[in-house]
Amino acid sequence: MPPLPIYDNLPTPSVLVDQPRLRANLASMQAACDAGGVELRPHIKTHKMVAIARQQLAAGARGLTCAKLGEAEAMLPSGVRSLFVAHSLVDPRQAPRLAALAERLDDLRLAVTSEAHAEAFVSLAAATGRKLSVMLALDTGQHREGARDLAAAQRIAARLARSPHVELRGFYTHEGHLYGVPANDQPAAVETVLASACAARDAIAPGLPLWPGCSISAKHVAALSRGRAQAVRPGTYVFGDYQMAYLARVMPPEEIALHVLTTVVDKPEPGFALVDAGSKTLFADRTADSLYAVAADGRDLKVVRVSEEHGWLRGADVDRLRIGERLRLIPVHVCPVVNLTDEVIVTAGDEVVDTWRVDARGCVR
Ligand SMILES: Cc1ncc(COP(=O)(O)O)c(C=O)c1O
Repeated sequence: MPPLPIYDNLPTPSVLVDQPRLRANLASMQAACDAGGVELRPHIKTHKMVAIARQQLAAGARGLTCAKLGEAEAMLPSGVRSLFVAHSLVDPRQAPRLAALAERLDDLRLAVTSEAHAEAFVSLAAATGRKLSVMLALDTGQHREGARDLAAAQRIAARLARSPHVELRGFYTHEGHLYGVPANDQPAAVETVLASACAARDAIAPGLPLWPGCSISAKHVAALSRGRAQAVRPGTYVFGDYQMAYLARVMPPEEIALHVLTTVVDKPEPGFALVDAGSKTLFADRTADSLYAVAADGRDLKVVRVSEEHGWLRGADVDRLRIGERLRLIPVHVCPVVNLTDEVIVTAGDEVVDTWRVDARGCVR
């Protein structure tokens, strides 16, 4: 086998994953969950890689969470036995895939996310000919999926109880709205989420587990739970990104494990440069002040606009850049960046140690 290319010879743009930082992020989340007595059931939508799912399970994760059936199917080679598909499945044509997935796992859980969805899901479940385990979504402030109040949650639970094809096995909440909460206020916001979700669970089925916990809240949930939550499902924590490090401030930038390696390809005018990573690499998610990515080495270099194959770079250090110079960028939102690449280059510092396939890339069905 030819030797792996050294860091300087990598083509750009390339997505780099730093193995030591990744391992540290996995270990630190697992340690927080172990200390708080909650299971870790990480969401794989961020990494989409069997290679990382295996590391999560080996480190102690109790199971995995996926958004789509295709992601779940792609993760089976990891050896996962317990899996939660946290999305509103409705299409009866998916029944054979759902039944086949259930057959290959010890514990498959599906989401029920509203009264309207409960009706559709019960029909889908009947079409599988099986009894499916269900987690009931509670809205704790994000206002996406989830029962909006206790009365709605009770009606959904009653509807599920009338079907021979579903069994209510627990409750979950996705508190994505916490990305907008300042770091100092996060523990109090997490306490509010825990209290309201627990109140609903205890009113309906006190013995059943409650699974809250995204990358902003998971460590707070573990610390504050005192037996109230049984599992958390963070996804982005594996790599981190600008949102997590600079906006929500739940990790320092030095712990971010994924960078985009890019090359300065033009300097059309003073104060402005172009790099070879545009929206087809960095995606189009941006901050409120129109930031797509920043330099990972602390220089004042910001991608302020993207076209398909160009990143538009501005900042106080732009004029010191040379054409051909390589830059590591921290993307604003890491999840779609991974979904745009077939493989990631695994590094340890500046050395290339491996490449990993993004197995569930594009698995949105
Ligand atoms: C239902 C659900 N659970 C868990 C997560 C993980 O969130 P995060 O990536 O912020 O950890 C997400 C993210 O979108 C989600 O939709």
